[in-house]
Amino acid sequence: MLSETGDPWLLTPGPLTTSLSVKQAMLHDWGSRDRAFIEMTARVREKLAGLVEAGDTHVCVPIQGSGTFVVEATIATLLPRDGKLLVLVNGAYGQRMVAICRYLGRACLALETTEDTPNDIAALDRALAGDKAITHVAAIHCETTSGILNPVSEAAACVKRHGRSLIIDAMSALGALPLDGGRVPFDAVVASSNKCLEGVPGIGFAIIRKSVIEGCKGNSHSLSLDLYEQWRGLEGNGQWRFTPPTHVLAALDQAIQEHEAEGGVAGRGARYAANCRALIAGMREMGFRPLLSDNLQAPIIVTFHMPGDPAFDFEKFYRLVGEKGFLLYPGKLTVAPSFRIGCIGRVGVPEIERALQAIRDTVRELGVTAFGPTRS
Ligand SMILES: Cc1ncc(COP(=O)(O)O)c(C=O)c1O
Repeated sequence: MLSETGDPWLLTPGPLTTSLSVKQAMLHDWGSRDRAFIEMTARVREKLAGLVEAGDTHVCVPIQGSGTFVVEATIATLLPRDGKLLVLVNGAYGQRMVAICRYLGRACLALETTEDTPNDIAALDRALAGDKAITHVAAIHCETTSGILNPVSEAAACVKRHGRSLIIDAMSALGALPLDGGRVPFDAVVASSNKCLEGVPGIGFAIIRKSVIEGCKGNSHSLSLDLYEQWRGLEGNGQWRFTPPTHVLAALDQAIQEHEAEGGVAGRGARYAANCRALIAGMREMGFRPLLSDNLQAPIIVTFHMPGDPAFDFEKFYRLVGEKGFLLYPGKLTVAPSFRIGCIGRVGVPEIERALQAIRDTVRELGVTAFGPTRS
């Protein structure tokens, strides 16, 4: 069964299935310099900072583009040209930050664990003690490559102890996993409109400590990705510097209201956790093997080993499950063949149960009987 707009359900890391009312919020045109839009921008910025309990200490700076744009903009704006970033890497999004530093010409050090292992905080402690040139640390709350939950609170405490600056990529976590700026000291957290907030893609945002962004003038190499200037513009006349994604912001404004109505981070997180439990239980029952143990699994997206049975052809599997109304997602692991199923977006346990039935039927059609990850 398809969604209420006749689309397949997106069991992916984003863009995701959105509510009808979020889609309907885009059925209007806004003047980007008009009061109504300026007020909408201010409201969204304030609510987003509130989601990480940082409204009094931090400012939210939105920017046009996908998540990667805001990650790049944040690194470029916060790091001085002679700064050095240590990235806690256990997947593709950490690797991407390292690549961004290479493009930007900022010194960078990757502190790596395998894709199924959380960040190593003892190693972080040693690295910060041993390398005084490191000015900033980047951590990823949920590494969407595998779906692993990283120990961001411990990382934050360690970075603070060493007097360095922390950037958290909470792209696939913000809105569903709690992050309290009062208790977890960070200088910036970045995320986007189209994941756990259940808006549509097109806006990234950084929630940056006010005392930090005040000192960032001239750091950025890029005119359009300069979050200092974006912030100055927004604080000055409430307007975006360049053409804003008006419809995307309206959808995000509506999505934030729906997030509040669901009980905020706790309510949304509880629905995703129920989705995740139902998904893993159903897949295990069929014989599929999740990559991560339950204690490392964030309730965002689940990686499954590709069954070793030669009858399991992922392209066919994807197409047949898709024809039944559910879009899954290819794997991104380097260590093992895998595929992923998301728990986020406007879906609940009934949709997950129907997706499981579609998977069960497809596995039967393909004649898959052995689910162990025998291929490497
Ligand atoms: C943790 C994380 N960081 C960064 C990104 C990049 O965002 P985008 O693909 O929107 O550019 C993603 C996307 O899934 C992500 O999950």
